[in-house]
Amino acid sequence: MVIDTMMQYFILLVYQILQTLNKLTLLAIESSCDDTSVAILQDGKVLSNCVASQDAHRLYGGVVPELASRAHLENIIPTVLLALEKARVSKQDLDAVAVTRGPGLLGSLIVGVTFAKSFALALDLPLIEVNHMQAHVLAHFAEAPYPRFPFLCLTVSGGHTQIVLIKDHLDMEVLGSTIDDAAGEAFDKTGKILGLDYPAGPIIDKLAKQGQARYTFTKPKVGELEFSFSGLKTNILQFLKKEVSKNPDFVKENVEDICASVQQTIVDILMEKLEIAARKHNITEVAIAGGVSANSGLRSALETRGAALGWNTYIPAFQFCTDNAGMIAVAAKYKYEKGEFSDQSMKPITRWAF
Ligand code: KG4
Ligand code: ZN
Repeated sequence: MVIDTMMQYFILLVYQILQTLNKLTLLAIESSCDDTSVAILQDGKVLSNCVASQDAHRLYGGVVPELASRAHLENIIPTVLLALEKARVSKQDLDAVAVTRGPGLLGSLIVGVTFAKSFALALDLPLIEVNHMQAHVLAHFAEAPYPRFPFLCLTVSGGHTQIVLIKDHLDMEVLGSTIDDAAGEAFDKTGKILGLDYPAGPIIDKLAKQGQARYTFTKPKVGELEFSFSGLKTNILQFLKKEVSKNPDFVKENVEDICASVQQTIVDILMEKLEIAARKHNITEVAIAGGVSANSGLRSALETRGAALGWNTYIPAFQFCTDNAGMIAVAAKYKYEKGEFSDQSMKPITRWAF
């Protein structure tokens, strides 16, 4: 009887050890811009997704590359330790180390890549490089429901605005992108004109909720699937100059309506192009990703217009919209499964088309 119980206990223990061994455990690092993020993914689930944001840039109304890389240096080790602790995973449990190789700011990328290479070397683990923009798309596979292939993804961030056709996890084609500013930049630059803090996107989103979109701005005339936002910024600036010359308090008195109008214009431009791409490629699985996909106006426009057009729409949870290492870990999982590893000669790439 005692021997039976011991035997059962032994089998259970061996089973549990084997289960742990079977669970792919990854540590991922993201440092392409001004957020230092580290995530742990185990068995396909993001167990921790820690982000150390950098306040230093607020004073300057935009990301200062030199300050960003210095802050990454300070943040990287504490963020790695926090991510491991939160996930209750030890360094010895890791199967691989993943890192954003690009696109992004060189100094920022160097910190993440150098740390990841040293960490992988010290622990004798394989290294996986990840394209940040692909990872924004693959954030959709962090949590169910997952989009079905092929699907379209509007990837909108501070540095990019793209419509991507996704045929498989690692098989993507950019159908169209911006010829100048990104959608996030349009939000941030408008915010600067209005005297709002950086990053202005979330602030404009909040103010827009209390306003009416009663001002109209000119939409750009560009190629079918191209975007352009630099003209919009000039248009807003000219409009405000004219109004302020009549009433010096115009911005203060109408900031909510201005924000609602700017947000409406940006969302309309994005949705128009997304609709063209969906029709052209006969696709009804439609997703959004990137920092600007946190925008409430864009999220509700996708839901309402998507429902009217018979689309299945996908919006990532907030933690997977803005820059985060969780999405890097998800992308790395697919690369691990395909055996796509990097070696110690890997260097960051500031511009990296896929
Ligand atoms: O993806 P992300 O975190 O970093 C880049 O890869 O650029 O995107 C940052 C951008 C910023 O421009 C920020 O203003 C914008 O995303 N953003 C928003 C919102 N939350 C973040 N824009 C509009 N509405 C939001 N709620
Ligand atoms: Zn990003």
